[in-house]
Amino acid sequence: MVMELLISVGVVAAIAVALAVLMVIADATIGNYGEKKVTVNDDKELTVTGGLTLLTALKEQGLFIPSACGGRGSCGLCKVKVAAGGGEILATELPWLSAGERAAKVRLSCQFKVKNDLKIAVPQELLSVREYTAEVTRIVDLTRDLKEVTFALRGPATIDFKAGQYVQLEVSPYELTDEPLYRAYSVASAPSMKDRLELEIKYVPEGIATTWVHRHLAVGDIVTLNGPYGDFGLHDGDRDIIMMATGSGMAPMRSILLDMAEKGSARKVTYLFGCKERCDLFLLDEMRELEKRLPNFRFVPAISRPNAEDGWDGQTGRLTDILPQYIPNGAAIEAYLCAGSAVIKSYIAALTAIGVARERIYFDDFG
Ligand SMILES: Cc1cc2nc3c(=O)[nH]c(=O)nc-3n(C[C@H](O)[C@H](O)[C@H](O)COP(=O)(O)OP(=O)(O)OC[C@H]3O[C@@H](n4cnc5c(N)ncnc54)[C@H](O)[C@@H]3O)c2cc1C
Ligand code: FES
Repeated sequence: MVMELLISVGVVAAIAVALAVLMVIADATIGNYGEKKVTVNDDKELTVTGGLTLLTALKEQGLFIPSACGGRGSCGLCKVKVAAGGGEILATELPWLSAGERAAKVRLSCQFKVKNDLKIAVPQELLSVREYTAEVTRIVDLTRDLKEVTFALRGPATIDFKAGQYVQLEVSPYELTDEPLYRAYSVASAPSMKDRLELEIKYVPEGIATTWVHRHLAVGDIVTLNGPYGDFGLHDGDRDIIMMATGSGMAPMRSILLDMAEKGSARKVTYLFGCKERCDLFLLDEMRELEKRLPNFRFVPAISRPNAEDGWDGQTGRLTDILPQYIPNGAAIEAYLCAGSAVIKSYIAALTAIGVARERIYFDDFG
């Protein structure tokens, strides 16, 4: 009986060891795709590590694809056309791809792994995206939950970007993340200031990047950024402009306005900026200063939940409600919006209701 028991235990142990060995072998072989070739835009050939996601494999080779959610499959920004070698589209990619994109072999680069040689197509401007080392030189509290952080570029020492574009900030591992990850932040400073970037970062409760910025980042820290990305920005022409933003949506608007002021723009701009309470408003002095520099610029800060102690005698109400007061007829207007997705939707509805053509509504969706 004891002998039988010992034999059974021995057999089970032997099977367990055999399975463990098989798993190690499987890990080392099945998951090991070796080096793969990725041909970019029929022009450039990269040798990448097979088995990595395309996003990570390209990043290792210095080709940065926008990835605002840090590769979690929740921003839809990391799309790349994979002309050959991509295989089947994964279930996690489907929600982000339209029928047209699927037919055009567009893939979510953070989701599928490089298992074959690939041919991909990326927008030309992504080829000039660079990684930067930067030193935090200034951190200012703009409101109770919004900080302006200045990053002085150390290497490369300067950056070229267009007003309205964003960069990705790398968050170092700390108690909320074991791995470095990236988040997108619009540049709030003027493109003429090439050696520094100012970002306006709003605290999101339990948010990984914003907790790191608000609770851990300090002057003197060295960080990694990459960019610039995005096509949000002022369109040429002389149409009157309406800008609508809330909270950190101020960032790209500020960059655009500073750029317009430096270029001596005479375009008529009405900027509606919304906040819940008086204490959420910021940069009021700077916006008044811009009103002096831009002859046809009007800044309208509005509070949706005023209270008597605030002493606020400015505009009150939601931007969507006060919009017709400032722009009764939007037929000839161009609109620029920046906020979270739900707010953007409400702005678009309000703008189209006053006659702004949908194709002249440009927006930067913070998600
Ligand atoms: C193109 C682009 C530009 C951006 N520019 C800016 C900018 O200039 N300033 C800025 O502050 N942010 C900006 N963002 C948002 C930023 O990239 C992060 O999403 C945000 O800072 C939250 O990151 P986190 O890691 O702290 O939160 P996460 O850890 O990613 O999220 C934690 C939780 O909070 C939710 N959440 C995420 N963001 C928000 C939010 N804004 N409000 C409420 N809940 C949220 C998530 O759904 C999740 O449940 C931009 C986003 C995009 C796509
Ligand atoms: S990086 Fe956000 S979906 Fe791929």
